[in-house]
Amino acid sequence: MNKSNNSRLALYPGSFDPFTLGHLDILERARQVFDRIEVAIAVHAEKQGLFSPEERCELIKKCVVDMSNVSVTSFEGLLVDHASASGAAVLIRGLRQVSDFDYEFRMAFANRRLTPDIDTVFFMTSEKHALISASIVREINQWGGDISSFVPVPVARALISKRR
Ligand code: PNS
Repeated sequence: MNKSNNSRLALYPGSFDPFTLGHLDILERARQVFDRIEVAIAVHAEKQGLFSPEERCELIKKCVVDMSNVSVTSFEGLLVDHASASGAAVLIRGLRQVSDFDYEFRMAFANRRLTPDIDTVFFMTSEKHALISASIVREINQWGGDISSFVPVPVARALISKRR
């Protein structure tokens, strides 16, 4: 990886099942700081999500259509390997509340031990999104609740079409 040439490219990794307004908020903040952001959807072959990786990719692309410095990809395997292959020296993660920190702290140290020249940068979400999580959105949607204040419009439409 050539850090000097790509120091302004940052990866924003996650499961994004689905992409929420909290994710969008973090992305908006990060793209003010970095030149280019690649949203990187982690694919777990053995884990069946609500949306397939392809569906997540298409939905996120619809949500970032006006953001010229944002691209969307997916990856399988180690995040740091994908970051190195992309030429990203920075990983973006969002923090909603203190309880997020324990997991994030361990993940950032693990990633740093694997690849010391990749740093994790944390952005704090807006207070109004601090309680949104993808799992809560899936659960509310499953029972027919109104998810429109939690997710961008294209995601809300897709969620409704998944209801049984
Ligand atoms: O949105 P999430 O589920 O909190 O994101 C977690 C994610 C996908 C970033 C993390 O599980 C990940 O990086 N997975 C890829 C495999 C990997 O590199 N694991 C080691 C990191 S501790």
